[in-house]
Amino acid sequence: MPCNRPLASATGPALALWLVLGMGMGPDVARSQDAPAAEATAKLAPRRARTAPGGPAAYMGREIAPVMTFHGADWLVRDTREAEEQPERMLDALKIRPGMTVADVGAGVGYTSVKMSRRVGPTGTVLASDVQPEMLRLLADNTRELGIKNVRPVRATPTDPRLPEGAVDLILMVDVYHECSDPEATLRGLRRALKPNGRLVLVEFRAEDPEVPIKPEHKMSVAQARRELEANAFVFKESLEFLPWQHILIFEKKPDPPGDREKPATAPKPTTAPTPG
Ligand SMILES: C[S@@+](CC[C@H](N)C(=O)[O-])C[C@H]1O[C@@H](n2cnc3c(N)ncnc32)[C@H](O)[C@@H]1O
Repeated sequence: MPCNRPLASATGPALALWLVLGMGMGPDVARSQDAPAAEATAKLAPRRARTAPGGPAAYMGREIAPVMTFHGADWLVRDTREAEEQPERMLDALKIRPGMTVADVGAGVGYTSVKMSRRVGPTGTVLASDVQPEMLRLLADNTRELGIKNVRPVRATPTDPRLPEGAVDLILMVDVYHECSDPEATLRGLRRALKPNGRLVLVEFRAEDPEVPIKPEHKMSVAQARRELEANAFVFKESLEFLPWQHILIFEKKPDPPGDREKPATAPKPTTAPTPG
């Protein structure tokens, strides 16, 4: 497959320093709530909060980063990316096999989806999702030009990854999880989509390393990622640390407790009127 051509990105000028300089652009999903609503949410769900009234949203003490808009898509296909991120070495470590169903969640213009498509081969599928339709359009242009048939674009929402239930062997999020504006809802949807032994892999810039030239809210530490995913029914397997700037954080879905599998989605209605007092 002719997959080595450069991928198309946004039509605007190159914005290679978007994350480094912190010039967030376009809709900022994480900042869309007003302060009173945020306070009410914090009371109901104490793990979700704001760093300050009217400030950026936070989850379990971590500031949620604004979504990187498609206007900055050139950054995703910058010339230096292969050297900085070594994506083929990262994918080698994940042992993707032909025929697998894998998901590239927050796929952007498809930089990683294209590489995954070669690994799963014609009998496998790459579900490439994003919350921005513009990103999905660029991704579709890229896969069409490359003649790739096994990448399926999926329009996710901030609260629903929209992946098929129990169907996915591996979910990969490259530089995405820290942008999810509703981590609990997203993780619930991802967990639902995984097969019983399915893996969720986060590739995140190292928060522990001040030399990594990325804004703090676009980085994650191993401890923070574990705290958040373990609270949402994922089991930490390992952290691979051979990439220049990023962690590869591998999680598996925790099995449902036996009782939960049979539980109806909603509580049954009482058959008699409740007695007062
Ligand atoms: C920094 S870009 C990374 C793109 C791609 N993974 C890559 O490495 O080239 C982050 C992407 O995640 C997407 N995103 C943010 N929140 C998301 C969510 N809850 N579900 C799916 N995609 C999301 C953004 O729209 C954006 O395209």
